[in-house]
Amino acid sequence: METASSARVAPCLKGGRTVARLAFLIRAQISGLLGSTQGINYWFCPEEHEPTVVPLMKVQSQTWRDLSALLSKLPIRRKRQVAVVLAASFFQGLLDILLIAFLARFVGLFSGAQLEDRLPGVLVFGGGFLDQTGWLLALLIGSFWLTSAVRFLVALMQSMLSAEIWNDLVNQVYRNVLLQRYEFFIQNRTANLSEKFNRILNSVSTKVVSPLIAIAGNALSVSSLLIGVVFVLGWRAMMIFILMLIAYAFASLLITPYLRLATKQRVRYGRRINLLLMESLRSIRDVHLYSADPYFVSRFSSDGVIAKRYDRLTRLLPDVPRFFIEPAGVSILFLIGLAPAVLQGSPEEVRNVIPDLFAILFTLLKISAPLQNTFRSLNRLRGGLPEIRDALDLLELKQERLTLASKGVSTPEGLMPRRLIQLSNVSFAYQKTERFVIESVNISIPVGSRVALVGRTGSGKTTIAHLLLGLLQPTSGQLMLDGIPVSDLDVPAWQANCALVPQDIRILDGSIRENVAFGAELEQIDDGDVWAALETAQFDDVVVQMPYGLYTMVGENGIKLSGGQRQRLSLARAFYRGARILLLDEATSALDSKTEYDLMQALDLVGRRCTTIVIAHRLTTVKKCDHILEIRDGRIAASGNFEELCAISPSFREMNRLGDSG
Ligand SMILES: Nc1ncnc2c1ncn2[C@@H]1O[C@H](COP(=O)(O)OP(=O)(O)O)[C@@H](O)[C@H]1O
Ligand SMILES: [Mg+2]
Repeated sequence: METASSARVAPCLKGGRTVARLAFLIRAQISGLLGSTQGINYWFCPEEHEPTVVPLMKVQSQTWRDLSALLSKLPIRRKRQVAVVLAASFFQGLLDILLIAFLARFVGLFSGAQLEDRLPGVLVFGGGFLDQTGWLLALLIGSFWLTSAVRFLVALMQSMLSAEIWNDLVNQVYRNVLLQRYEFFIQNRTANLSEKFNRILNSVSTKVVSPLIAIAGNALSVSSLLIGVVFVLGWRAMMIFILMLIAYAFASLLITPYLRLATKQRVRYGRRINLLLMESLRSIRDVHLYSADPYFVSRFSSDGVIAKRYDRLTRLLPDVPRFFIEPAGVSILFLIGLAPAVLQGSPEEVRNVIPDLFAILFTLLKISAPLQNTFRSLNRLRGGLPEIRDALDLLELKQERLTLASKGVSTPEGLMPRRLIQLSNVSFAYQKTERFVIESVNISIPVGSRVALVGRTGSGKTTIAHLLLGLLQPTSGQLMLDGIPVSDLDVPAWQANCALVPQDIRILDGSIRENVAFGAELEQIDDGDVWAALETAQFDDVVVQMPYGLYTMVGENGIKLSGGQRQRLSLARAFYRGARILLLDEATSALDSKTEYDLMQALDLVGRRCTTIVIAHRLTTVKKCDHILEIRDGRIAASGNFEELCAISPSFREMNRLGDSG
């Protein structure tokens, strides 16, 4: 935009005429300003950037549909609670009427007005001045306590309700996410996923659910109060309220564009500051070496000043209608209500309108806070509406994966193969990529044997392991057990028979015991089994020396353990499961040769019960395997036992010579 305008006015500049120059500057400023506000939209949600103009009505009806879809996701119990909270808000409005009636009577008493009894029940106060005062005062105080108590209860219920709704949504999304196929997590980087998860759900709860409840509650209590007061006091009160509401709506409308701009800018500068902070900390080495700290500090503080300014504005602006409306309301009230009586010059008349006027005044004061709250909530809601779609996407994720608890799923024992585990003519391409990383692979692994996969990094060994485990589904071809293809219903049972020690080990931030018995309830962990697994993994002697033994905490992702220790912990996890098929994906790469040798000896013992598939770094590790498959570019380049491979495969001999398989 800016470049276009500068191209257009460039000839004027050449003329050097001051006016043209000034005009150029102003125009550039304006277009820059417009350009930058449009840029913000783009910058925040590039994928949502719609160059075509969407009719406003359409957007709104879509929003309503999304909103009702979101609410329909709530459990029935929660919907009932919403109804209760709304009913309580309505009741709160009714109580307010009572309070205002007493107040008006009280004022009337002192002004000496002739008290007509318009409210049922207020009739009972006969008697003299003192009697009436006593009664009214007692009732007034009582109803103040009561309304405050009810208001507190309603507020409490509202906040509890929004917390519960947040919980409902989070739990549902978490369950949905965990029941996605493995490939879903490969496509969505986990860091992004958890960031998205948090951001969306937080903003849906604070910007959609809470405001909605607040708006509905306020609307109910305000309208029940207004209707009650109008019912008692008649059309004049109604006119005053309507004027007030119009004035309020007008003030809010006036403010909204500024508020929206301020919010946008605040978010924008907030992000810039964050980005700056992150960038500078990430490249702290360069910051030091280039002495760039003054540069970053000055950018940080100048952006900070702007962000703070918009932050103040966004806090102040929503309150502005109220500052305007209270005096405006009082002016309207007395102009319409009192001025005619004063102009008539009749003190009696003035005295008689006083109670009504005060009733209206109290009502105005009573509704100004809820109106204010509604305005704030509306603005927050408007900011939160775009997030509903994202939240719905998460909520509507279909359960893709079955678990052992699902209906119709085979049992692990029933599925355990007796003869053969096969990949039959399997090809595989990762989603969103064209390239087949595995092509027409046939592998047959006899149950009880030990098979090794070797090959360079990136040749497809890990992918084959994941295909064997049913974590990835072949693009074509099949995983077969005893010659029978594994269906979706079989996968959970198949996986229950397998254990994988992955290349990139993830350790829970918990105790050794929890980590070995991954996913088991703490009470159900058998310490004897844990020790046995640790022993097989050659890790028991280390754990014995730890300060709290099995209960020693290992820190986030096992930060307190060395690479080799983490591998052995991960191995112990596989052994603890008693899995019959063991997959070791470069599982011993971080161990020194001696420990690795001991481990492989131990594996020999375990191996009698297990089918073992080893992807190994060192060829010494695979020497004892019954069968070795050399993988090259997603295909099986050669296979046989160690001696055979040495004889037929030059690349294998090469690897053997270098003492490394990738
Ligand atoms: N998530 C993924 N998305 C796309 N391509 C992938 C993904 N993971 C691995 N690949 C590709 O698949 C090929 C095989 O990878 P992998 O099975 O990890 O090899 P290896 O375990 O033998 O080192 C590599 O070329 C790699 O770039
Ligand atoms: Mg790998």
